[in-house]
Amino acid sequence: MDNITHILKKNSFTHAEIVQLLSSEKEARSLLFAASAETKEKYVGNVVYFRGLIEFSNICSKNCYYCGIRSGNKKTNRYNLTDKEILDAAKFAYENNYGSVVLQGGEIEGEAFTLRIEKLLHGIKELSDGRLGVTLSVGEQSFDVYKRWFNAGAHRYLLRIESSNKELYYKIHPNDSTHSFERRMTALRNLREAGYQVGTGVMIGLPFQTLDHLADDLIFMKEMDIDMCGMGPYIEHADTPLWDFRDGLLPLEERFNLALKMIAILRIMMKNINIASATALQAIDPIGREKALKIGANIIMPNITPGMYRDEYKLYENKPCTDEEAADCKNCLEARIHMSGNKIGYNEWGDSAHFKERN
Ligand code: 5AD
Ligand code: SF4
Ligand code: FES
Repeated sequence: MDNITHILKKNSFTHAEIVQLLSSEKEARSLLFAASAETKEKYVGNVVYFRGLIEFSNICSKNCYYCGIRSGNKKTNRYNLTDKEILDAAKFAYENNYGSVVLQGGEIEGEAFTLRIEKLLHGIKELSDGRLGVTLSVGEQSFDVYKRWFNAGAHRYLLRIESSNKELYYKIHPNDSTHSFERRMTALRNLREAGYQVGTGVMIGLPFQTLDHLADDLIFMKEMDIDMCGMGPYIEHADTPLWDFRDGLLPLEERFNLALKMIAILRIMMKNINIASATALQAIDPIGREKALKIGANIIMPNITPGMYRDEYKLYENKPCTDEEAADCKNCLEARIHMSGNKIGYNEWGDSAHFKERN
């Protein structure tokens, strides 16, 4: 206990100290959460920003070992929203004062895809008089593609590193040129160079993952000086190769607690970044996202994908809100966020204060 109090008084943490914080239980963990909640209130305030999440397609060229929509999973019905469906969803976000949207989909490369995203970005800007902010989350692309999309109006990009440890990275991805760890690192640097607010993150509770890996992940984010983070518990999916290793996993509840501790420690380490409350938290705990908002997260991504597609964007089992429509999630989240002691930052982009400070 005394030790944790001592660590929490510091301005930066060593690897060993992060591991200690990650191991904290009971009162020690409560001290950690109190410190991170205080940091949040002081540096970003108790305001939660909405990013309407449009999961526009589950067609993916990659084959990540953990992901339910990997190209090798033949049991998934593939879908691709029409441009109109995507723009209608963006319109819903705009009319409901969400401030911004996230376009997320499987990773596809090529001119047709690049052009499509470019046109959608123009369309979203047009329907909202330039007022809707847009975050992209469509994987690794070349610098030129990132630049084109930035010029078309996207200003934030999410690309999780998944694990910053190269060895672990190749245990959860095929070891081939389409899943290169170096290329992922280059992509993150290119995003910064192209002008984006850059978000990354990891999965927590992966097979073979240790507290040392997770401590290194937090140090990696600090060293990369990221602007935003989205990280959540790993949840096994039956139609993926990592399913074979499920017996060695931490129990779900422990993965959930570890994810909360990761968020809390990162909030203290990188005080004014944006931290998303990952949907995967709610796959484990019915009020999991609210718990994360209480102790440090300040971003939530209400699903605004048209209801009939939601069940097919199943990265992991037990994904919440697959039977709901956009309006259901809106009402539900309003109540939940007030419960967590936060206000909703309607009509605001809610940009990363960390990014603003750097520029
Ligand atoms: N459990 C938790 N998160 C997952 N993701 C993909 N598969 C899973 C899973 N089985 C996450 C990855 C990816 C994000 C879009 O979803 O971190 O970056
Ligand atoms: Fe494709 Fe992303 Fe799933 Fe990997 S994690 S298979 S890139 S959707
Ligand atoms: Fe989707 Fe509660 S957030 S139904």
